[in-house]
Amino acid sequence: MGTDAARYGEVFAPVYDEWYADLDDADFIDYIAACRRGDESLRVLELGVGTGRLAESFVTARGHGRDDYVGIDSSISMLERLTHREPSISITAVHGDMAVVLPDGPFDVVFCGYNTIFNLPDDAALAMCLQEVARVLADGGEFFVDAAIPFGHEEADSNTTNSGPLAVTRGRHTVLSSSAHDERSQTVSGEFVHFASPTDVRRYPWSIRYWTAEQFDVIALRNGLTCVERVADGNGTPWAPHISRHISRFRVAT
Ligand SMILES: C[S@@+](CC[C@H](N)C(=O)[O-])C[C@H]1O[C@@H](n2cnc3c(N)ncnc32)[C@H](O)[C@@H]1O
Repeated sequence: MGTDAARYGEVFAPVYDEWYADLDDADFIDYIAACRRGDESLRVLELGVGTGRLAESFVTARGHGRDDYVGIDSSISMLERLTHREPSISITAVHGDMAVVLPDGPFDVVFCGYNTIFNLPDDAALAMCLQEVARVLADGGEFFVDAAIPFGHEEADSNTTNSGPLAVTRGRHTVLSSSAHDERSQTVSGEFVHFASPTDVRRYPWSIRYWTAEQFDVIALRNGLTCVERVADGNGTPWAPHISRHISRFRVAT
């Protein structure tokens, strides 16, 4: 396993559930559940399952025991927390890089939650991942992505926008957050710093490489997937290019 693929999870696993318990992306799961409402049981694969935050929402939305649920993640520390999750959920956890090889399936639903796909470092990794998704989808299977693209800020002499350090609340703590957005390379990197005590300073670096919805569609199509629907949120609000977040639904291209 490349250390790069595991880095985010290894850094954030100790704080992930506390810091991100209140993320407001449950509508993504509701959207998938609504799209597949007619299916009695589903074979599901989540990319970047982490500690199981979305897996728990999915199982709750669909009803326990209805589906076979597989989650892949590159971080052992995230998967350890998934294994000990309370309440426990029935899930097959696979340690692996979603840009190398996916469990064989076939799967009726493959999904990747809020910006997890932007953990992939470059076009080649995204292409490999989407090719694998196309390979493991069942007949009639669908791939769902939830992603939010940071928009640039107009600056005359720079392609980079720095933000922070800002004091933000994460779980029970106040931490400092800073980030730099480079529009040319379509990357955002940042860091949270938590001063747990004068002698205990904890750093949580992160970075994403993002693609616009249009760029994403081009790479998807080249790798066997076609976008069949795009909405701005799980309520079905119509999406437009100026809207940062998109939930996109893909099928194997014919
Ligand atoms: C933002 S967390 C999302 C976790 C969970 N899906 C959720 O929504 O709470 C991103 C997860 O993707 C995993 N990840 C990052 N790159 C990956 C890769 N190349 N292959 C598999 N998992 C990856 C990280 O380890 C982390 O657990």
